[in-house]
Amino acid sequence: MDRPRPLVCTGFMNSENTVGQSPAAHGGTALVVVSHHRPDSLTAAVAGRAASRLEAAGYSVDLLDLHAEGFDPRNRVADEPDYGNRDKTYSDEVHAHFRRVRAADVIVPVFPVWWFGLPALLKGWFDRVWNYGLAYGRSRSPMAEKRMLWLGLAGIPAHDPNADLVRGLFDGPLRRGTSEYCGVSDVRTAVLFDSEGEDLSGGARDRHYRELFSEAEAAVDKLVAG
Ligand SMILES: Cc1cc2nc3c(=O)[nH]c(=O)nc-3n(C[C@H](O)[C@H](O)[C@H](O)COP(=O)(O)O)c2cc1C
Repeated sequence: MDRPRPLVCTGFMNSENTVGQSPAAHGGTALVVVSHHRPDSLTAAVAGRAASRLEAAGYSVDLLDLHAEGFDPRNRVADEPDYGNRDKTYSDEVHAHFRRVRAADVIVPVFPVWWFGLPALLKGWFDRVWNYGLAYGRSRSPMAEKRMLWLGLAGIPAHDPNADLVRGLFDGPLRRGTSEYCGVSDVRTAVLFDSEGEDLSGGARDRHYRELFSEAEAAVDKLVAG
């Protein structure tokens, strides 16, 4: 795998790049969780597209930008005062984040694939917030009625020999190991491969980005359509 080059993405909320019709109105709350340190990253642009698409479908969008909000992925002792007690009180920050999860009908984490895993920032959000007694460990899962779309960007192309590692990540630790383990009933995944558009420039690069946006929007539309 070649080392990635930084991408700068501007104007991502520009509606002229939107491909296709907006899906029919649905309503409810959508939590879009974006994990990237650069606000002009392609990841942020894709998250903005996903949020716009959900809004167009009638959702009230809670955009959680983990980096911008200063989320600290490190667990603290106060986060888990009594590990074995599912009724324990976690830290205020953990409860505040989980309230946003609980309020959501639809959850869409948007992130770059790093070392065939989640960025530490997003991993830490799941580690700290999706906790025992909150997201799992109840006979009646609080997550059962929710729907989820894991929307990831991978630098390698879909035909790369290592692409199966990316697919394995989405189908294993993310879909099954996290969402389904917590009882989320409707789980979808979408990987935007070749996110960096290797060797492209000018109009070809713009077209490539439009295709990626279109793929992301199509994945959101499918989620919304249920
Ligand atoms: C630390 C780091 C690790 C990465 N690891 C992978 C990887 O394991 N697989 C992959 O396909 N791309 C990998 N990439 C490429 C990123 O997925 C790619 O740069 C990103 O999707 C581009 O979007 P961005 O501009 O929003 O970061 C890595 C990039 C970085 C910076």
